[in-house]
Amino acid sequence: MKKIILMLVCLPMFVFACKGSKNVEETTVTPPPSSITKSSFGQTRDSIAVDMYTLKNENGMEVKIITYGGIITNWTAPDKNGKYEDIVLGFDSISGYMRGSPYFGALIGRFGNRIAKGKFSINGQQYTLAGNNMGNHLHGGLKGFDKVVWKAEPMEGKEPALKLTYLSKDMEEGYPGNLNCTVIYTLTADNSVKIDYSATTDKETIVNLTNHSYFNLNANQGTILDHMVTLNSDKYLPVSRTLIPTGELRPVANTPFDFTTPYAVGARINDTTDQQIVFGGGYDHAYILKGDGKLNLAATVVAPSSGRKMEVFTTEPAIQFYSGNFLDGKLTGKNGVKYVKRSGLCLESEHYPDAPNQPAFPSVALKPGETYKTSTVYKFSVVK
Ligand code: GLA
Repeated sequence: MKKIILMLVCLPMFVFACKGSKNVEETTVTPPPSSITKSSFGQTRDSIAVDMYTLKNENGMEVKIITYGGIITNWTAPDKNGKYEDIVLGFDSISGYMRGSPYFGALIGRFGNRIAKGKFSINGQQYTLAGNNMGNHLHGGLKGFDKVVWKAEPMEGKEPALKLTYLSKDMEEGYPGNLNCTVIYTLTADNSVKIDYSATTDKETIVNLTNHSYFNLNANQGTILDHMVTLNSDKYLPVSRTLIPTGELRPVANTPFDFTTPYAVGARINDTTDQQIVFGGGYDHAYILKGDGKLNLAATVVAPSSGRKMEVFTTEPAIQFYSGNFLDGKLTGKNGVKYVKRSGLCLESEHYPDAPNQPAFPSVALKPGETYKTSTVYKFSVVK
């Protein structure tokens, strides 16, 4: 297997100075350099080669990204004993991803989340998209950005970063305008993964990009019901039976949706006295964030037994908290692990679902001459 190793040269040398009684002794330790390596990950059904890029930082944290769907297949983070283990759901080979993955680790576009009945209008012109989810449009359609092969280019700089680009042609999946998309994944020295999304169009269109990683901070063992979640939000979007927002912004106070203080995912997930828990089959709702364009803290997740902590920062106005309710044990993922119900959780930064049909929601329109730009950061640390 051909491997290209790009060592990132701007690494500082770590100097530890130990003061003796008379002399100052200096020991210079060079940490393992950060790097990007490229390897083959097979090919698609139509024989397009799929590459895998491994980003590694000085601490040993690793993120593997494939050009198919821009999918993060593996992502390690340290536990309270400093052990780096994989904390995302996924498959060992390309066939797993092509055989009907529930968007594990994938880039989602053009429109993350749902559009009612797959219909929307721009300046009086109606567009119809695939009704691929209970009659509604979900996650970009039949062949969304999660199922296309992106162009990849490692970036120069002091941190390992991968630039992915994709041109979605006018009327692809029913969306108007040639949309030029760029997604940059950066692995930083402080154990964060930053995702920068940008897009431009030549005709007015709608855009809502996100990443659909499923996290299990106990190294993909068991469910996420013990994970402690805090959401920086006091309102969420209640939904209909087919998971389309009703338009109401409902306060979370005194409901099972209140994560303004840390709660275990499982503590109230079966509280069927709340109709929204029934409709979502658990948590599958957009929480309202500040959305002032700055990288604000949106969510914190702590797994008490492993001590892993993840913080999510985003410029987006909402975050979909999905507790993996549709996983049912039928998928077998990496290392033969069966993905049982709620074995992973997603925190999808985004604009509001069904925004194209709900004028009161922040706009998702993108016009020629404008640049769509959003950023989300997943930062890892430990709690002892
Ligand atoms: C999103 C949706 C869920 C589900 C998953 C994929 O998070 O909100 O309802 O469709 O994607 O299974």
